[in-house]
Amino acid sequence: MLTLAIIKPDAVAARHTGKIIAHLEAEGFHIREAQMVRLTEDRAEAFYEVHRERPFFRPLVSFMTSGPALALVLERDEAVGHLRKVIGATDPAQAEVGTIRRLYAQSKERNAIHASDSPENAAREVAFFFPSRGKR
Ligand code: CMP
Repeated sequence: MLTLAIIKPDAVAARHTGKIIAHLEAEGFHIREAQMVRLTEDRAEAFYEVHRERPFFRPLVSFMTSGPALALVLERDEAVGHLRKVIGATDPAQAEVGTIRRLYAQSKERNAIHASDSPENAAREVAFFFPSRGKR
């Protein structure tokens, strides 16, 4: 099963990319695609469309367009659920010890990594960054 991760601009700027990739590989994920991306405002708005009405939408778009990010397609059994477990809660202060967000995130917004939250969203998000993989 495939899922999508994004190493967010805060973690890329802090040079945590290599450690996060090592963590993902140690958890059994295979990296099937990887691309450094600089999201435009339009692309970030489209990616986070479901959050458009939330109060954190504008700051989220602004943060996600603030610098380069790394989009990754990851494969493993139970990839979606396992990746959610490995990254930890949205708020790093609530994330379990040893999770990627607990280790590398600074705040609820600058939280180091994104992961698809369902198999349906994983298919949509993989296709968003890697259209050649199709929506399956
Ligand atoms: P992500 O998994 O990328 O999906 C939505 C993002 O919104 C989430 O990570 C957070 O970085 C961001 N966000 C910012 N503020 C909040 C908040 N108050 N509640 C939930 N998500 C938030």
